[in-house]
Amino acid sequence: MHYNGQPISDTNGNPIHAHGGYMLRYGEYWYWYGEDRRGDSYVSCYRSADLHNWEHRGTVLSANSPTKSMRVHSDLTLRRKNVGSNTTPSLNVIPPEAGKVNIERPKVLYCQKTGQFVMWAHYENGENYNAAAACIATSDTPDGEFTYRGSFRPYGNMSRDCTLFLDDDGEAYFLSASRDNADLKVYRLAPDFMNVDEEIRTLFQGEYREAPAVFKRNGKYYMLSSHCTGWAPNQGKYATADRMDGRWSLLTNFGDSTTFLSQPAFVLTPDNGRVIYVGDRWGGGGAAYFDSTYVMLELQFDENGAMHMEYAEESAL
Ligand code: GAL
Repeated sequence: MHYNGQPISDTNGNPIHAHGGYMLRYGEYWYWYGEDRRGDSYVSCYRSADLHNWEHRGTVLSANSPTKSMRVHSDLTLRRKNVGSNTTPSLNVIPPEAGKVNIERPKVLYCQKTGQFVMWAHYENGENYNAAAACIATSDTPDGEFTYRGSFRPYGNMSRDCTLFLDDDGEAYFLSASRDNADLKVYRLAPDFMNVDEEIRTLFQGEYREAPAVFKRNGKYYMLSSHCTGWAPNQGKYATADRMDGRWSLLTNFGDSTTFLSQPAFVLTPDNGRVIYVGDRWGGGGAAYFDSTYVMLELQFDENGAMHMEYAEESAL
């Protein structure tokens, strides 16, 4: 049994570090990717056949990962330059481990067209949150070492908290907070998932939405997000649309005023009709970050598709 807000152990008995993460189904396994800031690691991958017992497959992106440029505009920095320079931690700045950048909220899709696993994440330089960039990494296998393909700003837009969504028709979307988090951008990806192809929406302008998570149920698109309060939890809200590039509704609350002390990471829709919210219960910045746990709750829907989330001690996965 796993409990919300309690560390979850992998099959070796070690706490799972897959924060701000995402689960991808490939073959007979689910792959859980997420932030793992231990040592030189950036992203860890775990796999499971039952969504409950998780085998640590290792670090898939680290400060030592191979790099390969994809475009002239991408920045391949995976280690901080000027380590030891004057860095003054301030509000919303995580004291970095020496030499590391920040890779946050990694999401991975399998691109049928290229046979590549393509990771998108939020990139920061490890000293502050001024880079506000998206980054990409790719691999031939779901749990092998990813090659870092660099960071960039989509169409020059700031890009912070982010997610990916793969639609049934094969179109993939990248969503990220822009304009110092005031707006949320929705981009359609290129067919190889290696770039944004079109900026299709600017949502919730001036509403400072973070931690986006998208899923589809009964032909309707749902987008969960949090307000922008750093590591501190706040009231989760969601919007709906009939199309990804259509008009999105106004925001409606779900869960309680702290989203049960969590912030959305992703929503899982396994084939059995269940819809599962996975949130991070952040420990905070600095050393407290490593105490971060998870909140996994089943989402409920009424006949009109309105979404509700009740608390349960037991984790939904
Ligand atoms: C949160 C964000 C996290 C992390 C944190 C840093 O708002 O959702 O992913 O960036 O800020 O303070």
